[in-house]
Amino acid sequence: MNFKAPFQSITWNDDHITIIDQTYLPEREVYVDLTTEGQVWDAIKKMKVRGAPAIGITGAYGLYLGLRNAPETSFDSFYNEADRISEYLNSARPTAVNLSWALKRLNATIFAVKDKPISEIKQIILDTAKTIHNEDRRLCKSIGENGLDLIPDDARILTHCNTGGLATGEFGTAFSVILHAHHAGKLKQVWVDETRPLLQGSRLTTWELQKAEIPFHLNVDSAAAFLMQQGKVDLVVLGADRITKNGDTANKIGTYSLAVLADAHNIPFYVAAPYSTIDMDLETGSEIEIEQRDADEVTNFGNKQTAPDKVDVYNPAFDVTPNRLITAIITEKGVIKPNYKTNFEKLFS
Ligand code: MRU
Repeated sequence: MNFKAPFQSITWNDDHITIIDQTYLPEREVYVDLTTEGQVWDAIKKMKVRGAPAIGITGAYGLYLGLRNAPETSFDSFYNEADRISEYLNSARPTAVNLSWALKRLNATIFAVKDKPISEIKQIILDTAKTIHNEDRRLCKSIGENGLDLIPDDARILTHCNTGGLATGEFGTAFSVILHAHHAGKLKQVWVDETRPLLQGSRLTTWELQKAEIPFHLNVDSAAAFLMQQGKVDLVVLGADRITKNGDTANKIGTYSLAVLADAHNIPFYVAAPYSTIDMDLETGSEIEIEQRDADEVTNFGNKQTAPDKVDVYNPAFDVTPNRLITAIITEKGVIKPNYKTNFEKLFS
């Protein structure tokens, strides 16, 4: 199925990256240039660019930006510098594995070409970052195509957070499934969870759905149970920030609640993600580091204070859904069903 992505959230322009600054959406479509690794760290930390694959892609370009003016005297000092900048970039956000995955891939590439002149290694780093970016575009397209068989006619799909072109190289993960279902004429409408506290559903997913001319309703997160009880949801499809070897899945806070609800209402619950989100180094979800974010994301709404001064806040950005609640995981290689451990091992061997 062929259709054009309505926008590009990350582009490489000769000597810098340009990103859509997602913190301005949906009010303004602002594009900003990132020319240093410090600006890349800041953009990831402040969620100007966000979504697991998108931060992996941006981090990869960030490593090149940090290394392009590094001295070319010895490989060892160059490699140490690559290591230092990678650690720095990786410290911006801990939960999505795609960031560390991209940086590890680049470091392994640097080591593999260590006998080449450093000027040439720098070019290889940039080329590899571009490959990661282009690969993600292709993977996301395949995820959408592979998910299509799971979508019934006239589907009413509930989704959470933002998993579209803003969060990836192009098309998205769960969003790509929605996009393909729409183009195949199988989609009735999308239920968009607002996604407290940073409103990725309300600010970003609706913006992307409007651009793609897909019918949807925006709902508050706490409406999901009622929608399911009324028989208004046929399936849930959402993304992932890290999937461990046994299929446990970290994703935006509120995902686990949806999985419990879907199970209680006998509704299929699908996770869509590329292989770069599957972390074969972790056995179970309990090993995933969950990012805790600032209290003011919860105590303020826009510029309005919504809680008294000095309240104690618990604000995890992600939760972990146990594998037993996940009907299937849609990847670029196909739809993976339980037992995830065995089936991932087959996929990775
Ligand atoms: O904190 P965010 O907005 O970066 O969280 C993003 C998510 O949880 C997405 O669902 C996930 O990264 C999948 S993106 C294709």
